Amino acid sequence: MQTTADVSHLAQEVIDRCRRLASFSEDPDSIRRTFLSPPMHKVHQEIAAWLEPLGVTPRVDAVGNLRAALPGPESAPRLLLGSHLDTVPNAGPFDGILGVVLGTALLQESIARKFPYAIELIGFSEEEGVRFGVPFIGSRALVGRIDDDLLARQDERGTTVRQAIKDFGLRPEQIPQATLSGDVGGYLEFHIEQGPVLEKLGLPLAAVESIAGQTRMDFIFNGRTNHAGTTPMDLRYDAVACAAEWVGCVERVARSTPGLVATVGSFEAKPGATNVIAGEARLTLDVRHGSDPRRTQAVDDLIRQSKEVAGRRGLSVRSFMRMNQAAVNMDPELTNQVEMAISKSGCKPHRMVSGAGHDAMILAERVPAAMIFVRTPGGVSHDPAESVAVDDVAKAIECGLHLLDQLASSKTLRARTCRA
Ligand code: HGY
Ligand code: MN
Ligand code: MN
Repeated sequence: MQTTADVSHLAQEVIDRCRRLASFSEDPDSIRRTFLSPPMHKVHQEIAAWLEPLGVTPRVDAVGNLRAALPGPESAPRLLLGSHLDTVPNAGPFDGILGVVLGTALLQESIARKFPYAIELIGFSEEEGVRFGVPFIGSRALVGRIDDDLLARQDERGTTVRQAIKDFGLRPEQIPQATLSGDVGGYLEFHIEQGPVLEKLGLPLAAVESIAGQTRMDFIFNGRTNHAGTTPMDLRYDAVACAAEWVGCVERVARSTPGLVATVGSFEAKPGATNVIAGEARLTLDVRHGSDPRRTQAVDDLIRQSKEVAGRRGLSVRSFMRMNQAAVNMDPELTNQVEMAISKSGCKPHRMVSGAGHDAMILAERVPAAMIFVRTPGGVSHDPAESVAVDDVAKAIECGLHLLDQLASSKTLRARTCRA
């Protein structure tokens, strides 16, 4: 078994490759790679070039997931390794991508080991939900959850998901073929923690025991556009002032509910001119909690408070649900294997809840899923300052290699009919 020293060169290569992929962006001076955007072609080509010497030829499925299969013995179960290739705007270079590139390193090391199972590396096309406002398009295709409503969703230019698939050179009618078949025994996702916990504990790795549920919504406050210079304060129906008061409610509810986080990430004033009182304010809301009842209670409170604030000011408000994702527990057996592998890598095992959403929460609907977190220096993510330490990535690779060996000699990885 390799030691950290043996894999440190691999770790540096993983980091260098993540930074290389970060250069494929829609924006010249920052990282933005949304669903089936042109830079995604370059990402696919670059990863395919890394896999080519291994004799692995990836394919792109009908929603743009990159899928690289390493065959195993006849009728052996399949282990999925993966994470997402897309990013938020002004992203860091490791969110999602680290799990895919680290997976290529594990594939590379698996060739010689001839495990008694097949491995499929997956780079999901869309996890963040930036372009079409709904996340997990890539992983939802694997569990058969792409429906006509989703395909009809439009981006800000009016392009539908269906059209975006065609524009990328793919065929929407082939989406059913992306669904997982019954031979999958489990899904493993390596991902940066994106928070401060591991740094505070002084640990490089952690096993994720559950992923917090999340609600994403749009709120539109409507008042009355008017002249900023001639309209007295008591005759205004100012959508921005009203929405701003409600944003204060969002923060108060979140600060008063232990374990709850709530974010207004986007706030758009219309018409958006300095000398015009805004007649409309469009906001997004993101609410998360490990307990679904606590989360839904907070969401109900915030919807009620938006109506109260708008009513008192003589405005109206509409809210639209974009996503209501329940909290998901990771597979206990696979997570025990993860913890064992973390220990074998010489690290103190630690289990934690993920506040960030991940493709593992979608895969978990059909197959046993587990996640390994890698420490995020400064706890900074969704920002160019996002980073990883080469020693921590080396530990993650070592942990991954122990995991692959453990799954070869345990019964944990058995072909389970993908739960319908
Ligand atoms: O927003 C999230 O939870 C993740 O970064 N997609
Ligand atoms: Mn993210
Ligand atoms: Mn991510």
